Amino acid sequence: MRRERQIELLQRVADAGPHLEGLFGPASMVNDASVYTDPDRFALEQRVLFRGEPTFFGMSADLPAPGSWRSMRFDGIPLVVVRLDDGSLRALINTCRHRGAPLVDPAGRGEGLRTFTCPYHAWTYSRDGRLLGRPASYGAFDDVTLECDLATRPVAERHGLVFVRPEGDDPIDVDEVLAGAQDDLGSFALEDWVLIESRAREWDVNWKLVYDTFTESYHIRTLHRASIAPSFNSEATIFEPFGRNLLTIGLRANVRDELEKPREEWSLLPYGTVQYFLPPTGLVVHQLDHLEVWNVEPLDVGRTRLTTSVYAPSEPHSEKSRDYFVKNLDLLLSVTGTEDFPLMEEIQRNLSSGAIGQLVYGRIEQPLVHFHTEINRALDAATGTAAHRRPRQI
Ligand code: FES
Ligand SMILES: [Fe+2]
Repeated sequence: MRRERQIELLQRVADAGPHLEGLFGPASMVNDASVYTDPDRFALEQRVLFRGEPTFFGMSADLPAPGSWRSMRFDGIPLVVVRLDDGSLRALINTCRHRGAPLVDPAGRGEGLRTFTCPYHAWTYSRDGRLLGRPASYGAFDDVTLECDLATRPVAERHGLVFVRPEGDDPIDVDEVLAGAQDDLGSFALEDWVLIESRAREWDVNWKLVYDTFTESYHIRTLHRASIAPSFNSEATIFEPFGRNLLTIGLRANVRDELEKPREEWSLLPYGTVQYFLPPTGLVVHQLDHLEVWNVEPLDVGRTRLTTSVYAPSEPHSEKSRDYFVKNLDLLLSVTGTEDFPLMEEIQRNLSSGAIGQLVYGRIEQPLVHFHTEINRALDAATGTAAHRRPRQI
């Protein structure tokens, strides 16, 4: 992140008052509890947000060399993205054209793929999706005129980020999707980073609760009192919207130490958890010396698969240095897996019971307000109505 930009952001902290009240948003928001629990609402979100629009898929580092692949589902649509010999990416529907079997693990990744071979009857396809052969079929498909190459989908790679469009053919303009966030994101040279490790786990939560728990620092003081609270500020975060995306910067408890220095020497990165939320599927977090990326994959209205990956700025030069990054992933998953997500599961249970009809997001939770406002707006635009939500007041 450019030095002037870090100074500008720190100035906001300096000007924000003793409890960072100056970083609060202009208005609180009330949202229906049903947005987390209603199957019809979930189906609409899936269709509008996860299927029809350019969607964050992962990092360039997930696909480091020709033959690297990664697969994921979007509203059920199975996609596999593979790197070709010329370095470009190809997004294919991970479904055999014979009778529909997945060609690779639908939630996996791998290296060195030369051809796709179907596990059912061994039809083979090139990396770019062309049908190469139907082994041992002895002319049994000679009369078939149906196109049997794998279907492709738009994929785009820029600033070290990969986006796909699960349905439709319109090309993807990554900068348009990022809506300005690329100015900062680009400064991290994410295309040069390397994947250290990735782990997946399912939770009984609506996908939006994943974003909710990361978009505010207000809960750190209480929920994380036994773990990270002493090191982090529990007041407001720095916040900037970029279209539907948002940037929050969670601050370290000692951030004000930096403000004692001459202004031109200020740096924010040692004091900030820089989080780029790329709804609906991604969260990219720059944390001091490593990168954490979350892939959000809703499985049902109340169940979500989360894949958490950690990246280093360059290939670790020793096992010890690799271990350092793995330990960061261990710590992250330990705190979120024992403190955040178990509570999110209880919240999901409570909301599903109908115990309360509405939730409140306060001005101290400004990013949360932005996130839900944008999701509601996208669904309203797609349906031409706000009928899927009840009117509300604060
Ligand atoms: S379903 Fe793939 S070869 Fe038959
Ligand atoms: Fe948390």
